[in-house]
Amino acid sequence: MALTSSLFHLCIFVLVAHFATPIVCHERPHQAALFVFGDSIFDPGNNNYINTTASFQANYLPYGESFFKYPTGRTSNGRLIPDFIAEYANLPLIPPYFQTGKKHFNHGVNFASAGSGCLAETARGFVIDLQTQLKYFQNVAQLLKKKVGKTETKQILSNAVYIFSTGSNEVLAPLSANSTFPYSDTEYLQMIMGNLTTVFKGVYKAGGRKFVMLNLGPLGCVPSVRALNLQKGVTNGSCMEEVTNIAKMFNSALPKMLKHLEKQLPGFKYTIFNTFKVLAESIDNPTKFGFKISEAACCGTGPFRGIFSCGGKRQVKEYELCKNVKDYLFFDSVHPTELAYQQFTELLWNGTPAVVAPHNLKSFFDLST
Ligand SMILES: *[C@@H]1O[C@H](CO)[C@@H](O)[C@H](O)[C@H]1NC(C)=O
Ligand SMILES: *[C@@H]1O[C@H](CO)[C@@H](O)[C@H](O)[C@H]1NC(C)=O
Ligand SMILES: *[C@@H]1O[C@H](CO)[C@@H](O)[C@H](O)[C@H]1NC(C)=O
Ligand SMILES: *[C@@H]1O[C@H](CO)[C@@H](O)[C@H](O)[C@H]1NC(C)=O
Repeated sequence: MALTSSLFHLCIFVLVAHFATPIVCHERPHQAALFVFGDSIFDPGNNNYINTTASFQANYLPYGESFFKYPTGRTSNGRLIPDFIAEYANLPLIPPYFQTGKKHFNHGVNFASAGSGCLAETARGFVIDLQTQLKYFQNVAQLLKKKVGKTETKQILSNAVYIFSTGSNEVLAPLSANSTFPYSDTEYLQMIMGNLTTVFKGVYKAGGRKFVMLNLGPLGCVPSVRALNLQKGVTNGSCMEEVTNIAKMFNSALPKMLKHLEKQLPGFKYTIFNTFKVLAESIDNPTKFGFKISEAACCGTGPFRGIFSCGGKRQVKEYELCKNVKDYLFFDSVHPTELAYQQFTELLWNGTPAVVAPHNLKSFFDLST
């Protein structure tokens, strides 16, 4: 009773002091922030701000047409996974790093860059590589310290969720290499896992504790790779097994690496979303997810609309756009539609251990550190 009444007085006092400002008298539970790293699956427009080419950008229509009504830079027709997570977690949209200035990072920042991978050499010169994304995160951590002090920063960073989507561009890179690829699969995988480990350790050292990783989808089945397969003479439109197999190798190395980090680093926590299972199921059985077409893209040209020309600003200028985007799993020749992303995020947020383990995101956000 005494506490209630003194709180009441405090509110009155604050109300008088700033009478134009709405005051919340009860302490809201501290919502965990969300820091986002990786590739085009998560990039909200960071590549709009770097010196790159239209191949690594999506800041032109019809990208963005279904939700934002303008091209934000997201490589889809609307929102991406981090946008839906923010909604489910009662956070505002997490801004691209280059839009945050020195202020708007209290709820988290998105560092992702389309085309990037775990290795600095993946699309070098055209993207913000993962190591540089880590540097930007370290900048943000410093700014936060200046703003709210050391103790509060430590608490914000250790409660925050760090989500990564990376590795797909390494799996796809050998397809566009002109000469023979210089690494064996095993060497390549070791380098990828090694560099990813370094970045996780860097985030941990800066105060991060809660890591979420999307594993890789069956990349041999995206429309662009099906189209390549067709070019190579596989005329039945099937997936390219070699590509999907490298994704599978990555996916089996990933939990081992994370378990190892969990043993090595006190308080390190992780969870993995099984993108492979979810995407494979939606490709094999689109109607179960409410789609009609899972082999061809909505936007692009050529077989399966698998040529990466959506928007007509890249190398190939012609493109077609489907009439009803809601029927499609893939928006362009590589990237899912907004509706697909929404369904994936529902599973990531609420799903059973078959698709997200050891924690779904809803419980991971609440996990105390
Ligand atoms: C951007 O890249 C182009 C081509 O690679 C180059 O000519 C130009 O100088 C670069 N601009 C900046 C500001 O780095
Ligand atoms: C591949 O070769 C083409 C022309 O033969 C060239 O324009 C392109 O820059 C090369 N790409 C790479 C990644 O070396
Ligand atoms: C990271 O990748 C580079 C190639 O980009 C490689 O030389 C290096 O050994 C890798 N680091 C680790 C720790 O595996
Ligand atoms: C498509 O053809 C390839 C070989 O050309 C074969 O291995 C594969 O089983 C075929 N897939 C289907 C679905 O018929």
